Amino acid sequence: MPWATPARRFSLASTTQGVSLVRKAVIAGNWKMHMNCAEARAFADSFRGQVENLPEDRQVVIAPPYLAIPTLSEALRGTPVAIAAQNVHWDKKGAYTGMVSAPMLLEHGVTHAIVGHSEPRKYYSETDEQINLRARTAQIYGLIPILCVGESLDQREARETERVIHRQVEQGLEGIAPDRLIVAYEPIWAIGTGKSCAAEEANRICGLIRGWVGDPEVIVQYGGSVNPATIDDLMAQPEIDGVLVGGASLDPISFGRIVNYQVPVGVA
Ligand code: PGA
Repeated sequence: MPWATPARRFSLASTTQGVSLVRKAVIAGNWKMHMNCAEARAFADSFRGQVENLPEDRQVVIAPPYLAIPTLSEALRGTPVAIAAQNVHWDKKGAYTGMVSAPMLLEHGVTHAIVGHSEPRKYYSETDEQINLRARTAQIYGLIPILCVGESLDQREARETERVIHRQVEQGLEGIAPDRLIVAYEPIWAIGTGKSCAAEEANRICGLIRGWVGDPEVIVQYGGSVNPATIDDLMAQPEIDGVLVGGASLDPISFGRIVNYQVPVGVA
């Protein structure tokens, strides 16, 4: 079967360099609390080869732990891989023990910041209001926020999925410009469980999110147990513009297969 990049909602536009894709699918890895500097360097040495022939229609982003950011940023210099932070504080500096600000991230070439991931929501009781402040600060400093939203298993079983995600989108994005934003649909029950959401259902929720954001061009990712076996199917969905990958992003070969996903010609 012939393979090609999906045409779907990506449009062409003229730039000073000629014709280029306006929007790219965004494939992001979230390393969580894994990888010291030596491990990050070893990953980069192996991963470089995986992105040598990366198709033009996609952007790869990796979010290492804060301490590994300078090492990874340096080790991946000259590659098309961007660096994200796993969170960002809402203030530029001050008495916030343990926190990291946007200007500190910019100093190391960071371009994206995950906000509202279900783990800080759960373990550190982050609220939609705080998450919104983080996203706003990220944009003010030129970082692209990756806002994570998603329902728990209990909420899904109680048929509250749409209501929960709508609230997270509405409150999380107050005052946020949709053109410098990524939203990641991450059902909590699919994170780290090996139980990926069915591609069609992920597509349905991503479409709802796009409607609630109100900008047809906003990038909406799916996240939750994405792996090399599920990526092609997910990326063939017309409403899914990328993925946020946890466990499978820790291995350069597995993440390499994910970033080099293939969608059959004519799909999406
Ligand atoms: P997972 O994590 O891919 O390991 O399920 C996804 C995430 O938490 O972003």
